[in-house]
Amino acid sequence: MAREPRPAARVVLGVGGGIAAYKTCEVLRGLTESGHDVQVVPTAAALNFIGAATFEALSGNPVHTGVFSNVPEVEHVRTGQQADLVVVAPATADLLAKAATGLADDLLTNTLLTARCPVVFFPAMHTEMWEHPATQANVATLRERGAIVPDPDVGRLTGVDTGKGRLASPAEITDLAQLLLANPDALPRDLTGMHVVVSAGGTREPLDPVRYLGNRSSGKQGYALARVAAARGARVTLVAAHSVSLPTPSGVDLVSVSTAAQLRDAVLDVSAEADVVVMAAAVADFRPSELAQYKIKKTEGEPAPVALERNADVLAELVRHRRPEQIIVGFAAETGDGTGDVLHHARAKLRRKGSDLLVVNAVGEGRAFEVEDNAGWLLAANGDEIAIPFGSKSQLAAAVWDAVASLRQP
Ligand code: CTP
Repeated sequence: MAREPRPAARVVLGVGGGIAAYKTCEVLRGLTESGHDVQVVPTAAALNFIGAATFEALSGNPVHTGVFSNVPEVEHVRTGQQADLVVVAPATADLLAKAATGLADDLLTNTLLTARCPVVFFPAMHTEMWEHPATQANVATLRERGAIVPDPDVGRLTGVDTGKGRLASPAEITDLAQLLLANPDALPRDLTGMHVVVSAGGTREPLDPVRYLGNRSSGKQGYALARVAAARGARVTLVAAHSVSLPTPSGVDLVSVSTAAQLRDAVLDVSAEADVVVMAAAVADFRPSELAQYKIKKTEGEPAPVALERNADVLAELVRHRRPEQIIVGFAAETGDGTGDVLHHARAKLRRKGSDLLVVNAVGEGRAFEVEDNAGWLLAANGDEIAIPFGSKSQLAAAVWDAVASLRQP
């Protein structure tokens, strides 16, 4: 399928005065390499951490902090008015407080007041500052007014300390910014209070100490589901098989597994109390009946056949043991064949599996596996069918969470 070129958007990248400002350079690079026109608007404090020259060179645009530069062009108003998206990273406690109270004493805070496009703040600060009632109240106010404020990550902070308050990774910030440019409504806070479990990646079934039966799943779709759910306010547990090269999304609890049996145990364990379970993992249907203790040697003549036995169907088990209000989502990677097209097979699979939703990807010819974009359909047990246009895996994830949220509505 041909990929539509993404049109250039005008992005304002606001930078607060925190040590995490060094990561913003990578966000800037990611956005400009995607073809967007990025104007960096740092606070004066941010320039203590990164020089204006770095931002100017990477963005190709001049950088100011105050409202008295470029006065004939009324820059303090125009910058916000013309933006398609404002991304603030890092958003310090001070900057969140100014934004919540509507202060406008520099170019960035003026821009925040004049922007009518989506505004997303990525907080970064020490845990005590994040947890302080003043910061929490400011974040609540900003969210109420429609700003998007994902919780910060948990991890290493400036010094040797760790905790909640770490800036999201540049890859995550760039991805969520791209998602908002493609769909400004992709990150409502509608999963707040929910616990969601997502399985991701491809299981490996060992044959001997060095070989395994595996599949081509990269884990990217499951990670996108986890990332978008966390940004929409959910508590997320990600059960991941062999997705080691992907950064763990902010605030997500990661359980790493390898085989289908391990994935089954982990998913059933964490799903007992979950509100939603999404089985995006490619789980091996079969495993070698025997695990050779030593590496299997090449022998003369015909190789010995590998005997296989069946693995449990985790999705079917989840459906059997579900609580009445629990939502179960399955995935299906399908190709058409002589007996029917992709949708024909997918409808039959939804009936067979008994999940509430089935996300259907058409695979083959380089689609769905190991790539950045996906297209498909969302089939619901109530007969609804939604076509998901070609787009990023995060866009598909947002469509899945939209469908889950509408099922949760009475
Ligand atoms: N799945 C599972 N346990 C398995 C195999 C698959 O939970 N042992 C889940 C996958 O995570 C996915 C869904 O079932 O959500 C559909 O996977 P798929 O491989 O398309 O389905 P199968 O039942 O294996 O059907 P097919 O005969 O088409 O392979």
